[in-house]
Amino acid sequence: MQVALKIWRYDPIAGERALKEYEVSAPEEATLLDVLDIVKDQVDGSLAYRKSCRMMICGSCGMRMDGAAVLACKTRMYDLAQEGRVPVISAMGNLPVVKDLVVDMGPFWGKIRAVTPWLEPGYSDPGETEHVVSQERMDVIHKESLCIMCGCCVSECNSMEADPDFLGPAALAKGMRFVGDPRDQATVERLQSYSGEHGIWDCTRCYFCQERCPKGVDPRDAIAKLGAEAMSAGIDSDMGAKHAKWFVTSAKTTGWLRETELVPKTQGIAKSLKEVKFAMGLLRRGKVPPPFPPHVAKDVDEARALYDLVKEQGREGYEGIVQGEKALEHLELESESDGAGPREPYGEGSFAVPYLPGENGDEEGA
Ligand code: SF4
Ligand code: SF4
Ligand code: FES
Repeated sequence: MQVALKIWRYDPIAGERALKEYEVSAPEEATLLDVLDIVKDQVDGSLAYRKSCRMMICGSCGMRMDGAAVLACKTRMYDLAQEGRVPVISAMGNLPVVKDLVVDMGPFWGKIRAVTPWLEPGYSDPGETEHVVSQERMDVIHKESLCIMCGCCVSECNSMEADPDFLGPAALAKGMRFVGDPRDQATVERLQSYSGEHGIWDCTRCYFCQERCPKGVDPRDAIAKLGAEAMSAGIDSDMGAKHAKWFVTSAKTTGWLRETELVPKTQGIAKSLKEVKFAMGLLRRGKVPPPFPPHVAKDVDEARALYDLVKEQGREGYEGIVQGEKALEHLELESESDGAGPREPYGEGSFAVPYLPGENGDEEGA
């Protein structure tokens, strides 16, 4: 098949950028990486990009296709070629470009190092016996363990674009990989560190990391789990944590978000006073509902019942996140060597069975 593509080239010596178009003949099964190899071999040997494994394992070949991060070795070109589309290939975002499609991964690794990416078991002598972790507990960090450090999530992260010091989705997913590991003995220290400035509460929940991760790590879910674990451990002094707490109180008491009280509850009375002039302006334009008497939603009982149900099911910390997400689809639920067939995602040996009001949680959970 004939494949055409445009590549943003960058020459670091001349400091020049240029969008160049290439067209080559490639086998029908070719990936973007294969096509780049053909361009480099046959058209322009100076084209720079990273690769190693060619099979979605090493994480080297992250780049952008039409503005969205992809792994070049995972991206088939057949459909694009059939449609006659000419995709634009460029280097990943949020990282400095070294040459053509090669970025400086230094800032990426700096953030990974900042989350202490190794197990802190709390002992120096591992002893003679293995430290076995149940399947149920490993399921919690299964997705985070799949990360290949490609940087595709970081490339698309909104928060990192606004604040280059934000720890970012890859590092925080790595952090959750250890927070969720029952063998790790530094959970509180980790949660305190990740909850600080540029940490978990700076995520804007845009979900681009989730969308672009080629390995199903779902970094935003990992950040949500860290937030829930931090709250559960009483680490809630950050404004983001206070914000989240007020959402819960608000929904539980009135069934809707009591926005008028959100600022004092989040920032404190002293800081809120500075916003009085702004608030008065909003009030004059009818943008601020009066806090008293509080408006109570017609079906507030449903919100309260949901709150009670979550409490009853004991979904504190990560358990409140994992079970509610499509994330379970990513878990490999095949049993090991016992030939017993697929393992149920819920129930014994995995997540506790969630259930709806009126259902029997033990037997009829959905
Ligand atoms: S969800 Fe959060 S971490 Fe993920 S890309 Fe958006 S801002 Fe970044
Ligand atoms: S979380 Fe996904 S996108 Fe981000 S570095 Fe890991 S594998 Fe790549
Ligand atoms: S070359 Fe290793 S992940 Fe693409």
